[in-house]
Formats: sequence, structure tokens, C-alpha cells
Amino acid sequence: MRSLLFVPGYSPRKQEKGLEVGADALILDLEDSVALAEKPKAREIAAGFLARMRGVAGRPTLYVRVNALDTGLTEDDLAAVMPHAPDGIMLPKAEGGLSVAHLGGRLAVHEAEHGLTDGATRILPIATETARAVFSLQSLPGSSPRLSGVTWGAEDLSADIGAETNRGEDGGWTAPFRLARNLTLMAAAAAEVDAIDTINAQFRDLDGLARECREARRDGFVGKMAIHPAQVAIINEAFTPTEAAIAQARRVVAAFAAAPGVGVVGIDGEMVDRPHLRRAERLLARLG
Ligand code: COA
Ligand code: MG
Repeated sequence: MRSLLFVPGYSPRKQEKGLEVGADALILDLEDSVALAEKPKAREIAAGFLARMRGVAGRPTLYVRVNALDTGLTEDDLAAVMPHAPDGIMLPKAEGGLSVAHLGGRLAVHEAEHGLTDGATRILPIATETARAVFSLQSLPGSSPRLSGVTWGAEDLSADIGAETNRGEDGGWTAPFRLARNLTLMAAAAAEVDAIDTINAQFRDLDGLARECREARRDGFVGKMAIHPAQVAIINEAFTPTEAAIAQARRVVAAFAAAPGVGVVGIDGEMVDRPHLRRAERLLARLG
């Protein structure tokens, strides 16, 4: 998934609009974009949307962002949406593998109740929203076969650590937030799942978004969350492997295939070894 667009759970208009903008995934939000009094209504609207989209060919992947496990709201969120088989659940304020495993257990119950395949519902945690969460990133690998990726969040983490701001004057992340971002990348790699970059809230600054996407791709992220339709095309472009990158990956794979048992080959005067092969294989795997 290159682009994952948030759509507020209570907004049928944005949900419909979200279908047209080329996002690989929509995240129907029941959490921070929905006021407490509006939660029941948002659940109902999100559930209706999932029901209508069930089985529709070519639609985006559909995730639901439920409320955090310690809010007392998660179970009602799941009860509303699980009958309609969302592709996945985004877990905010996740604190490591335990919270992912806990959610996985709840999902298994709902899947059984609704005749869904056991394990079909994926989990994408927002894994850095508290300081504790940052320290438990190392427990994500192996926590659940449902884990589809790892993403991170800066807003709630700012509040938790008492930071006045999370971006510096140049618009880039300040050091504590780069730490969270970078550890997310490591956790995703260790868990062998997708690293998904966080949102850029400045939805009119598309140049800034493009720059942030390039840096994210450079470092190993394979996608990014969006909050506004205008961000989707830029994200898709940045995270679509270029023809040149695909061609190079195929050459690396072919070079190793032609020399079985060899650990290192030369291509165009450059040493290419096993880590390059793994990277090439991962890139080609993402093409599906
Ligand atoms: N998904 C789908 N459509 C969206 C959208 C989104 N996230 N954000 C905006 N749109 C639509 C608007 O409805 C509007 O379409 P319309 O004129 O046909 O109604 C069009 O895109 C242009 O929107 P614009 O006027 O530029 O923005 P806005 O002021 O209406 O909305 C936000 C700004 C930030 C409120 C809105 O982008 C939004 O709701 N984002 C998601 C918020 C969210 O889910 N946050 C939680 C995760 S951090
Ligand atoms: Mg939040």
C-alpha cells in the first residue's frame, strides 16, 4: 500500500470522494476525527459504507481506525464494523506486540461470529503515540500474523513527551520525532512488514509533502498516510518504483540466478552482494 487516505467515519461525502482519488487504501476513522458524542453515528455510517463496498472489485483496501484499547470504546467499534469484513483495523496508541496480540484475539472472536476466515483481518498499528509505545516497538516482530505494517504518529507523542512542536523551522521533524520515525522503520524491517510513514498535516504544502515522501522512500518506507485527496497522487508517485529501479532489480536477480551459490557479483563495475539481492527481491515482490 503506497497511499492510505484517512476519511472521517461520520462523513459519507468524504468516503464516496475517497473512492475516486486513487488511494490504495482508505482508513475510515472512528478515533480522533470523531467527537465522543458522534461515535455511535460514525460507527453506523462507516459500517454502512463497508457493507456497500463488500466484494466490490477494484475498490481501495478498507481499514477502520478504531479507538484505542484503553478507551472502553474499541469493542463497540469492532462490533459495528466487523460484520462487514473490513480488510484491516488500524490500532492507534498501540503499545507494542501485546496490544497487537490483544486486538488479534478480539478479531478472531468477531471473525468466528460472522463466518469470516480466521486471521483475514489485518492489523496496522500506529506504534509511537506514547513514550511507552516507542520503548515497546521491539516487541512487534512475531506479535501476530495479522500484522500488515507499522506506522507512526507524531501528534499524540508530542503531547505525551511535552514537546512544544514536532517540526523545526525548516518544516522537518525535530530530533525526538525523527527517533520515533527511524525506530518505526527498524521495527517494520524486523517484523518483515511494510513501514508506512505518518501524515503530513500541511495539506496545502504539496512541495513539502513531495520532499518528505522522497526522504521516506530513500530510507525504506514503502507508503505514507494522507489526510487530504490532493496528497494521494504525490504519495503514489513517490512510492511507485521507477522503471529504472525495476529494471535494475531484475538485473540483480538475474545476475544471482545465473551464478548459483555465488555470494557476490559485479554489475556495471559495481559490487552487488546478498543484501542487494534481498532488496531487489523485495522491490519486485511489491509490484505484486
Ligand atoms: N477524504 C476524502 N475527501 C476529502 C478529504 C478526505 N480526507 N478531505 C477533503 N476531502 C474533500 C472535501 O470534502 C472536498 O470535496 P467537496 O468539495 O466535494 O466536498 C474536497 O476534498 C476539497 O476539500 P478542502 O476544502 O480542500 O478541505 P476541507 O477544508 O473540506 O477539509 C480537512 C480539510 C482536514 C478537514 C479534511 O481534509 C479531512 O477531513 N481530513 C481527514 C481528517 C482525518 O481523518 N483525520 C484523522 C487522521 S489524522
Ligand atoms: Mg491521534
